[in-house]
Amino acid sequence: MLVLGIETSCDETGIALYHTEHGLLGHALYSQTEMHSEYGGVVPELASRDHIRRVLPLIRQTLAAAKLELQDVGAIAYTQGPGLAGALLVGASVAAAMGFALKVPVLGIHHLEGHLLSPLLSTPAPVFPFVALLVSGGHTQLMEVSGVGRYKLLGETVDDAAGEAFDKTAKLLGLGYPGGPALSELAEEFSRSGKPKQFKLPRPMLHSGDLNFSFSGLKTAVLTLTNKHGITQQTRGGIALAFQEAIVEVLTEKSLAALTQTGLTQLVVAGGVGANRQLRASLSRRAAETGAVVFYPELEFCTDNGAMIAFAGAMRLQQAGIRNQLVGSFTVRARWDLELLETP
Ligand code: KG4
Ligand code: ZN
Repeated sequence: MLVLGIETSCDETGIALYHTEHGLLGHALYSQTEMHSEYGGVVPELASRDHIRRVLPLIRQTLAAAKLELQDVGAIAYTQGPGLAGALLVGASVAAAMGFALKVPVLGIHHLEGHLLSPLLSTPAPVFPFVALLVSGGHTQLMEVSGVGRYKLLGETVDDAAGEAFDKTAKLLGLGYPGGPALSELAEEFSRSGKPKQFKLPRPMLHSGDLNFSFSGLKTAVLTLTNKHGITQQTRGGIALAFQEAIVEVLTEKSLAALTQTGLTQLVVAGGVGANRQLRASLSRRAAETGAVVFYPELEFCTDNGAMIAFAGAMRLQQAGIRNQLVGSFTVRARWDLELLETP
């Protein structure tokens, strides 16, 4: 069966076609980053309006590229939450209307379930059970993933998400939005220059004895540093490196602790911060010391995308059969606890 996936939870319109027998047949993404960068962050109303503009042309484009017709679609999966309510409503209403017109089932998918299952789209793929480190602009969580719909929260951030901390710190350093990749570049450049390290920042909650994180203090620590030393050509790189080292060490050590606590040997990294090269190097190095394996899905499946939603929809349809048929009405859940999700 061919599943059309629609992702509109934040600032990316993602569309994908996943076939339960033939795999991923096509996907496309439109990112609104440039539009929001002018405002230094995502403007929800602009995001919703842009999803409206993009979603139908992107569906047509994805079908055409895969040489498929609308009539080939056997089910539709859309991101039901969590996310921006207005943005979610665009995907939900398009999915419901198309489902009604095509007389096919429509499934609302939890965005984080999409992220947690997305590593299964890559080769080599991990096998259940595994630990997932989900590090995006909105989430920082360690999860035990035992199967579709079987997720146990091991730990999460008590304040800012890792990506949010990267973005806020980058903003402090005058690096624009979203600043995570720019901050990371700056830190690497400083590292390569061979200059001595000037600063060291705290490792928040490293020894808290649990698997939770806290990153808002780190941003304040950077602010204190910049107030004291100013933001100059000389200090900027050193501060970026100190910040990145602190966040990478905490994420690495807590991920390793999660593997020890669960007795599992596979770690999967999902979310935009998973693109960070220092984080990848650090996780791989520490995991190798303990005999664990780390999986890094391709970046296009790490960040928000439609493929993960189509895939999660396909998995649920295969396991539960088509009993979630939804005709003529739809709901979104801007806030939605992943642990409340039912197993199919
Ligand atoms: O998963 P994602 O694309 O979107 C959601 O938040 O759902 O993650 C985006 C986040 C942003 O905060 C961005 O700054 C961060 O991932 N990011 C990075 C890097 N690339 C993206 N942070 C650090 N290093 C990077 N190379
Ligand atoms: Zn996401």
